[in-house]
Amino acid sequence: MNNGKNPFNIEKFYKSYLNAPKIFKNQNALDSTYIPEELPHRDNEIRMIAEKTACALRGDTPPNFLCYGRTGTGKTATIRYVSQKLAQQIIKNKPWWIYINCNLLSTPYRILAHIYNTISGKERIPPTGLPKDVIFKKLLGLLDQKVGSTICFLVLDEIDLLIEKTGGNEILYLLTRLNENLDYCRTSLIGISNKLKFNQSLDPRVQSSLGKEPPIVFHPYNAKQLGDILMERAKVAFYDNVLNDDVIHLCAALAAKDDGDARKALQLLRKAGEIAANSQHKVVKEKHVYEAHDELEKDHVEEYMLGMPLQAQIVLTAIFLINKFKPEYIITSGDIYEVHSELANKISGIKQLTKRMISDYVNELTLSGIISADIRSLGYYGRTKIISLDVDMVLVEKTLKQNEKIRNFLNYKPILLQSDKVLIKNNIFKKLI
Ligand SMILES: Nc1ncnc2c1ncn2[C@@H]1O[C@H](COP(=O)(O)OP(=O)(O)O)[C@@H](O)[C@H]1O
Ligand SMILES: [Mg+2]
Repeated sequence: MNNGKNPFNIEKFYKSYLNAPKIFKNQNALDSTYIPEELPHRDNEIRMIAEKTACALRGDTPPNFLCYGRTGTGKTATIRYVSQKLAQQIIKNKPWWIYINCNLLSTPYRILAHIYNTISGKERIPPTGLPKDVIFKKLLGLLDQKVGSTICFLVLDEIDLLIEKTGGNEILYLLTRLNENLDYCRTSLIGISNKLKFNQSLDPRVQSSLGKEPPIVFHPYNAKQLGDILMERAKVAFYDNVLNDDVIHLCAALAAKDDGDARKALQLLRKAGEIAANSQHKVVKEKHVYEAHDELEKDHVEEYMLGMPLQAQIVLTAIFLINKFKPEYIITSGDIYEVHSELANKISGIKQLTKRMISDYVNELTLSGIISADIRSLGYYGRTKIISLDVDMVLVEKTLKQNEKIRNFLNYKPILLQSDKVLIKNNIFKKLI
């Protein structure tokens, strides 16, 4: 807020923006959807996928297979890369590649409709309303008619989420049965998973038709490999001489510590570039990388807190409120239990939790690094957990405000801290002395 004293001069802002030193040549090259010309350190994976899919060049049907690896190990990029290279080898009747991101499309209906609509291009299956067997039959007809004697690759990306959300058996059973019901066209399924043991809950029939081939495993990148990946991207994304050499190494080292995720490494480099550009620096420096790292970390913590179950958010609210009204107060699990009970009484639809359950939530918050708990000996009285918040209060408040059930209680002073009241067995009494 500037109270009208120091109004933001938008003209001046745009002018200095345009006159500022240029950092990015092509910022899109740091997007996660950008497919680079080459994929350093994925030769083996590219070769294995090329070997499995090459028979499509002769019109034969490639086997179904799976790719595993943690996020940011280049699975999606590698499959897209191979699909482009394969298409370049075929002039007529290029194979079809249908991408299904199971994080966005997880019901059998929507997956079948997506495949149909992508191939058809014109006639579309509505978002709801048709029986699934009708869509399945229509899809069979369309595959034979439009894809004809070529191969249709169906890539189920983030297939572990499909299984987590819906079990996955129904749609995978349908998709693995396509070929038996087709006259001309042949399909090949490629599943991409972030988790190694994702398919154990699947129906054995589905498991065997997906898992005949040994899976292709993508290992996390080390710092040197991330450095090579970033170096190649930086050539496309940044102007010459705007990056200090150490910047790439630092981004690579920080991302390697965070489980070798190339996506995070690229985000870090991009954010560092943005910070340098916004503060009108001519070059990106190491300090920009550290700032970027802090910012991304904050976003990550916020996202994590937003995704926690409501009860965990209320436990966090209890800690937040005690801290807010009495920062020097030493918080024990018993205090959290009391404040949580008060809040649960006030927030509609929220159950009281037992001390045991509160303790479980406290452990979860500790594991995720949002709070820390120190065991302290109280001498004669035994031991207790002392809890402190490890995340910035402003960030916690900003996050909790986004929850409409909690929003109205962020100024509520817990009874524990109201000097004239005491809480006995969940009843509030006014202190007489
Ligand atoms: N070997 C590599 N070379 C260049 N860029 C890569 C490489 N591996 C991953 N990337 C990039 O890192 C980001 C994440 O990769 P992605 O394929 O989406 O990972 P995954 O699907 O395993 O989560 C993308 O921007 C991708 O282009
Ligand atoms: Mg992916």
